[in-house]
Amino acid sequence: MRALLFAWLAIAGQAALAGRASAVGLQPDGWDAGLELSAATDTNPNPRVVEINLEARVARVEIAPGQSVDAWTYGGRVPGPVIRVRVGDRLIVHFRNALPSPTTVHWHGVRVPFQMDGVPGPSQPAVNPGESFTYDFIVPDAGLYWYHPHVMSAAQSGFGLYGALLVEDPDENVGVDDELVMVLSDMALNDSGALEAPDAGGSIANVFGREGSHVLLNGRQQSSLVVRSGAPQRWRIVNAAKSRYFNLDLGGLPFKQIGGDGGLQEYSVERDTLLLAPGERADVVVTPRLGPGETITLRSILVNRGMFTTEGRFPYDDLLTLTGASVEPYSGPPPPDVRRALTPLPRAGATQVDLELTLDQPPDAAPEYGIRGALYSARHKALEARIGETQTWTVTNSTKWSHPFHLHGFFFQVLDENGAPVKPLAWKDTVDIPFERTVRLIVRFDDREGVTGAWMLHCHILDHAEAGLMGAVQVSPANAKGGPAETEDGHYGKH
Ligand code: C2O
Ligand code: CU
Repeated sequence: MRALLFAWLAIAGQAALAGRASAVGLQPDGWDAGLELSAATDTNPNPRVVEINLEARVARVEIAPGQSVDAWTYGGRVPGPVIRVRVGDRLIVHFRNALPSPTTVHWHGVRVPFQMDGVPGPSQPAVNPGESFTYDFIVPDAGLYWYHPHVMSAAQSGFGLYGALLVEDPDENVGVDDELVMVLSDMALNDSGALEAPDAGGSIANVFGREGSHVLLNGRQQSSLVVRSGAPQRWRIVNAAKSRYFNLDLGGLPFKQIGGDGGLQEYSVERDTLLLAPGERADVVVTPRLGPGETITLRSILVNRGMFTTEGRFPYDDLLTLTGASVEPYSGPPPPDVRRALTPLPRAGATQVDLELTLDQPPDAAPEYGIRGALYSARHKALEARIGETQTWTVTNSTKWSHPFHLHGFFFQVLDENGAPVKPLAWKDTVDIPFERTVRLIVRFDDREGVTGAWMLHCHILDHAEAGLMGAVQVSPANAKGGPAETEDGHYGKH
């Protein structure tokens, strides 16, 4: 009996690694075949260690029936394989670069040791073509994270390099077994159907941020899903596009948002539309009610993210079609209300930091984004923080475009936007700072192994980051004498 039970657990564990969240669900067999993602293969027998091989290489991928493109891929697929781990697991990734250019892997949102953060220069040397690098770290927090390069990231992510990292917490009870990982992105193709040059449109396109011509969900256009009416499903969504915002709409069917970047949020919120800026994640439950053969579509409606970002553009109507299956509707109880006890970071004693997001237009040079205030330390050319310190950042966006503001290595809590409190409480690593608005957030530079270093902060419209919207925060030991430890050359590396 015991042996049988263990055998069953082992099989259930395998099933989870093969890409399914759980063995038992309410949906018909094959319901999610149209949204299939490849899954990383764990080669390590230790149940608490997930060890995978990951190769970056150019490969031909099909983005729509009959339409293929030579993309930059992890493991030959766009998106790269979903990596599934449990919170507290050790993740070992044997990464090999078979691209024609140097690269790294950055684990977006994961509180990794600094040496594993994938920023070329400060964290690690860039991985040159033909070279390898092993990433090895404990995954400390449940949630949906993702991975992408940090070398010429606008170009490389735009070419197809991104994948999801799902950190599951076996003790988390959301009461929904049918789960989908959704990677939203886009890809810019030229008239001959090949990858568009990443600098197409010149410096003015940097100012806007380039949106790809082909909108993708799990690497495909016009995906499909077969659903059992009345059965709740959990969608774990990441916006991996380099510039495009997604504002998801299911024709009035609400999204019940239960979490975001850093796992579950304080309490759930019903949303008619779901906005994801580049880099952000959402954890939502949707419950479609559809007769057999009846359909609804998931679309992305227009987002005003600044000057000339809606003119001449159209909603994207064809992300995903949900079709009612010919099965008995589900009439069981709705899933339980999901809550998470989160404590607001104490504001008393927090160091105040003012940051301004700027755009300068020198008369005879390319426009340049910047973070003013960030470079106030001549010594480090970075913000400074001590381990254990809490800081309140007032981020004012003085430009005419919105900026998804991302901090490496730490979660923050968003306090307010233009003075209006932001609720519910949640851990974030990326927050949209709308144009001409001010967002306040609070961050604690928690003590943990390998936390010392110059952690990046930047806009996740990657064209903006490369046009200058980036900085770093130098985190130093609490007891360091005579100022924070010196970085090698007072320089925090190229994005
Ligand atoms: Cu998603 Cu600096 O990165
Ligand atoms: Cu930006």
